[in-house]
Amino acid sequence: MQYFVTTNTASSEQTDCVVVAVFNQGQLSASANEINDSSNGQIQHYIDRGDITGKVGQTLLLQDLSGINSPRVLVIGAGDQTGIKENDFNTIISTITKTLDSSAASKAALYITEINVNDRSTSALITQAITTAEATLYQYSATKSESKPKDNPITSFSFYAENQNEIIQATNNGQAIAKGMNLAKELGNLPGNICTPTYLAEQAIELGQQYDAVTTTILDEDDMAELGMGSLLSVSRGSRQPAKLITMNYQGAGDAKPVVLVGKGLTFDAGGISLKPAAGMDEMKYDMCGSASVFGTISAIAELNLPINVVGVVPSSENMPDGDANKPGDIVTSMAGKTIEILNTDAEGRLILCDALTYSERFNPEVVIDIATLTGAIIVALGSKTTGLMSNNQDLADDLLQAGRDSNDKAWQLPLWDEYQEQLDSNFADIANIGGKEAGSVTAACFLSRFTEKYTWAHLDIAGTAWKSGGKAKGATGRPVPMLVQYLLNRIANKN
Ligand code: BES
Ligand code: MN
Ligand code: ZN
Repeated sequence: MQYFVTTNTASSEQTDCVVVAVFNQGQLSASANEINDSSNGQIQHYIDRGDITGKVGQTLLLQDLSGINSPRVLVIGAGDQTGIKENDFNTIISTITKTLDSSAASKAALYITEINVNDRSTSALITQAITTAEATLYQYSATKSESKPKDNPITSFSFYAENQNEIIQATNNGQAIAKGMNLAKELGNLPGNICTPTYLAEQAIELGQQYDAVTTTILDEDDMAELGMGSLLSVSRGSRQPAKLITMNYQGAGDAKPVVLVGKGLTFDAGGISLKPAAGMDEMKYDMCGSASVFGTISAIAELNLPINVVGVVPSSENMPDGDANKPGDIVTSMAGKTIEILNTDAEGRLILCDALTYSERFNPEVVIDIATLTGAIIVALGSKTTGLMSNNQDLADDLLQAGRDSNDKAWQLPLWDEYQEQLDSNFADIANIGGKEAGSVTAACFLSRFTEKYTWAHLDIAGTAWKSGGKAKGATGRPVPMLVQYLLNRIANKN
């Protein structure tokens, strides 16, 4: 899809379809009113007849109205004129997108800046409209033998704004974020036999070739052994696929200290010797969605040429049962020198992340944020709507929570208090890799916190939000790319 900005009025715009809003009780938006006036009261006629009342998501497609330059007018119900909720706004956008995609129109002009969404700026709404439209149109096809071409698919949206400059940046941001989300979705949805650590490394090299500002480095298992990454390597020892440590260095701000994003890149999590149950195990191909969000974020900021330095670090491995795999009770030595008793081989994410977090010290980071499908417990705590956030610094936590609200990709903070740390005590090593039944997401973060003492750090547990489970809707969501890009945009804005 392409996105443009228009300053033409609805009746004068020349395109395949103009989209105007009607609010509850048939209240006309300014543009609906303008079309109505130019067309001899045609919209009011249909409202009076009861064809549309203004309820969120209602549609009415009108053809060949006299006095209107475009052949079609799509009237969309937009709810309460004084303000609607974000999710209603998303419903409106996805309804418009679906309706136009299955209509004969290819190009459309949307007069949706007249819709008020509680507490949201016009810019934020335009960005969100684009990510929602792209999410509506996203179709996975990489491993299907036939692709079904659509008749007259929708190819462009123009957004109306009185002041063009106000929303051009928002349009660019939306496109870059949507592109990053689509990359994250595509990587997430690919099966484990294709999306291996080696495949992710190749994708990172490709990103480096695509963007001058991105430099990719790949460490193999020998390199990691030399660095003493005994924890990470213990996980990949149980797999035929060699582990990779991927670094994507985006340099947009000279020698400024970088934001380091560390993404869990576990390309298939069978659990290892602590084998997972069979039901739904296919979804453990999504255990690399943290890394996918790092790829997506790097791609978005490179598209936007953002003036900031960001290093993406992706420890990537499989977690499989094997004669040489970790066994419960095994003790390994991490790069930081701490010994770890592996009481459950299925708590492997923290084992690969801890060495990547230690490795991240070398970038002299301003902040480090790790993103990981780390615990099933976060789904029990927050469900699949909200990302779990834990941090050793409240300012960083607040900034991420704010970015989540700004981008409608929300997180909620859980405590990381010292009281929980003793759950990780081990009789035989410095630290155990599990903390018992209680507060599983917090103790997972506590484990990571032992390796992040040298810098400002936050952890995002995306086990609930990175993909939709089961059934027809099964698929990666591209989260939390919007939150991460927004966080970086806010950082840049707050510096100026
Ligand atoms: N990748 C899983 C977490 C996960 C589980 C994500 C289910 C989404 C759905 C992680 O590696 C894992 O297995 N965690 C264990 C930790 C436990 C052994 C302490 C879990 O959550 O069960
Ligand atoms: Mn696991
Ligand atoms: Zn895992």
